[in-house]
Amino acid sequence: MDASSDEGVVTEEVVVPQRVERRAAEPWDAQSVDSTDGSAQNRLLIKGGRVVNDDMMQDADVYIEDGIIKQVGTNLHTPGGTRVVEAKGHLVMPGGIDTHTHMQLPFMGTFAVDDFYTGTRAALAGGTTMIMDFAIPQKGESLVEAYHRWRSWADPKVCCDYALHVGVTWWCDKVGKEMEELTEEHGINSFKMFMAYKDTWQLDDHDLLESFKQCKEIGALAQVHAENGDIIKENTAKLLDMGITGPEGHELSRPEEVEAEATNRACVLANQIGCPLYICNIMSKSAASALGEHRRRGTLVWGETIAAALGTDGSHYYNPCWQHAAGHVLSPPLRNDSSTPSSLMELLDVGDLQTTGTDNCTFSASQKALGKDDFTKIPNGVNGVEDRMSVIWEKGVVSGKIDPCKFVAVTSTNAAKIFNIYPKKGRIAVGSDADIVVWNPHATRTISAKTHYQAVDFNIFEGMEVHGIADYVICHGRVVVEEGNVRAVSGMGKFVPTPSHSPYVYGRVQERDIANAPKKVDRAPYDGPVIQLNNQGLTQAVESSIIPTNQEFYTRGAQMNDKSPKRPSVKVHNPPGGKASGSFW
Ligand code: URP
Ligand code: ZN
Repeated sequence: MDASSDEGVVTEEVVVPQRVERRAAEPWDAQSVDSTDGSAQNRLLIKGGRVVNDDMMQDADVYIEDGIIKQVGTNLHTPGGTRVVEAKGHLVMPGGIDTHTHMQLPFMGTFAVDDFYTGTRAALAGGTTMIMDFAIPQKGESLVEAYHRWRSWADPKVCCDYALHVGVTWWCDKVGKEMEELTEEHGINSFKMFMAYKDTWQLDDHDLLESFKQCKEIGALAQVHAENGDIIKENTAKLLDMGITGPEGHELSRPEEVEAEATNRACVLANQIGCPLYICNIMSKSAASALGEHRRRGTLVWGETIAAALGTDGSHYYNPCWQHAAGHVLSPPLRNDSSTPSSLMELLDVGDLQTTGTDNCTFSASQKALGKDDFTKIPNGVNGVEDRMSVIWEKGVVSGKIDPCKFVAVTSTNAAKIFNIYPKKGRIAVGSDADIVVWNPHATRTISAKTHYQAVDFNIFEGMEVHGIADYVICHGRVVVEEGNVRAVSGMGKFVPTPSHSPYVYGRVQERDIANAPKKVDRAPYDGPVIQLNNQGLTQAVESSIIPTNQEFYTRGAQMNDKSPKRPSVKVHNPPGGKASGSFW
């Protein structure tokens, strides 16, 4: 498949001359790793494949220099010594962007076992060339410090590019200021608020509103983990009382409507602020339908689902093997409904859902066993970063639900647009980063923990046969996967800053605010009589008519009036719930 070329032909049919403007140096650049190495690998020709973007397919070659796509077309002129990757019969697509990972996350008393090295190497193996991870401060902790901690973990280890979202797990004015600093100085354009994980990361509605307001102020995207943590706490206590301690309790404590309620509430709150919203890891038909209704009403909201929800379901929680059932525990949970995966795929096709992540947050059997006697102690999280592209290809394209262009849209392009890194990422075009997967749509493989690259000892897709394999993966112009072999080096990926005010997200916000601004009604002032309130807010007219009798009802609570030492009360003839002679209500 591989050869050298010194074709000296004149360039023809070069398409999409879409230049990516190189920006001036930003503060975060100093910490980035240089992606070029000055070797012959800097020049690469992908020859004879079919280029697939989200809006078009064409047979074309792709010429890459110094990590950037320089030409797309046929009969390209390329310098001598250019390495050639033969792609005949293959699809040449933008590398995947996994919008939702948690590498080495400290969580539930332990750390996710796939770190920024094993996790990103596995990502590359499956055709994903960029991940978006979450820096999550503990309650009371500085967001900026959490950001730096995650950078210090990731920068030396990442094999592919990565960006960060930052969690908002508590609220005060300082948090708002740090959000601004992160956006202006550290390349963060999205913040995630949790509506679940009561007593640790959960925000109440007031704090959600404050964080949404601040996101809007600084042009960042508000994300939510949408589950009602208060209901989950109630349900959990009941289930444990009933003696349900196994992994099925996890799913039973967080039913679909608990996810749908939070999804709806987040949409309402964000819409009231006029803040664009992104719902993370939508796992159920009910939550997706709440989101869809809001989108049709015009709410600026986008939805992500994950490979787990598209590739498997919650029947596994009822498996008699504890280890197997616990291996599927994540939040929100998989749904015990075999029609959910295909419904979610259909919603990706029609555009109700836009992106796919994985929520990759892996724990091995001995870590999951922390919850062997109590499902609330099973560390939440599953794999996916390696298999997402294959699972979506299999369940989406092979099943005929989506076409290859839609596959590209939901695995990279939409994410690049939403998070404001398009067309640098998510497109095969001149000027874009050379992050490319050469996809063999005919080859098959069987997913297994025994053969996967991830460090975790379990795979939720175990035994699934998938068509679609990343034969070659090119990251920043380097061939990092070659006929199934990964040749990634830790630290060769780099941090990708995500600029604020994504036009795809914020493009309509100002106009909407102006168009929907409340309008004052000009009218003649009221000039009739106005009753007087006393210092308890009661009208004098009402107060003067108080004459307690046996048949009357009285308001509760302190009623002392400064001016009158007797205890006034308000006569009510029809109390709510009906009259109850002689009693208070
Ligand atoms: O189960 C999950 N999702 N674990 C990671 C933490 C989170 O909720 O994103
Ligand atoms: Zn997550």
